[in-house]
Amino acid sequence: MSKIVVLISGNGSNLQALIDNVTSGDLEAEIAAVVSNKADAYGLIRAQEAGIPTEVLDLKEVLSDGGNREGYDIELAGLVAAYEPDLIVLAGWMLILGKGFLDRFPNKVINLHPAMPGAFAGTRAIERAHAAFQRGEIKRTGVMVHRVIPEVDAGPVVTKEPVPIFPGESVDELEERVHEVEHNLIVAAVALVLGQT
Ligand code: GRF
Repeated sequence: MSKIVVLISGNGSNLQALIDNVTSGDLEAEIAAVVSNKADAYGLIRAQEAGIPTEVLDLKEVLSDGGNREGYDIELAGLVAAYEPDLIVLAGWMLILGKGFLDRFPNKVINLHPAMPGAFAGTRAIERAHAAFQRGEIKRTGVMVHRVIPEVDAGPVVTKEPVPIFPGESVDELEERVHEVEHNLIVAAVALVLGQT
């Protein structure tokens, strides 16, 4: 059974989609651990309720203890490597991973991003797409899962899906529809990378 480690920073609704599909057997994988950079991430509760081991490595704490960013990536890599993952899934992980982490897991890290390839890299991607639509610059946004490289929200695309934007809809309404697409796409992407489709 393939082992995956999921990295999160917040609510964890995409983690929940993975948990539900593993539990139902639709996704043949074991979630070996959930790791967060935030101790108050609700996703940790979702993991604990599913009986999945959890870990927290808070960047602010590492830095205030005299550590540095590179050291954080290396420490995080060690913590993740202990679970011997076949795949590492960034599902709402909000820190950039550097070479100290990525070199430890070549071609084994994928990330979910709520925009199409090359569009709205970085944070607040859904809000920025909504604003661009209002300005008449775009007609749709989307969701992608890509392999992670040191450049933010770049790297070879595993899968993607466009999401139309409708006149008059609010950011919250668009966000809700984008998350629905994400929940299916993250599961499909993991299955694809693990050779299950
Ligand atoms: C998702 O929209 C993901 O694409 C982005 O952060 C959000 C996390 O949502 N990077 P959740 O924590 O999985 O609910």
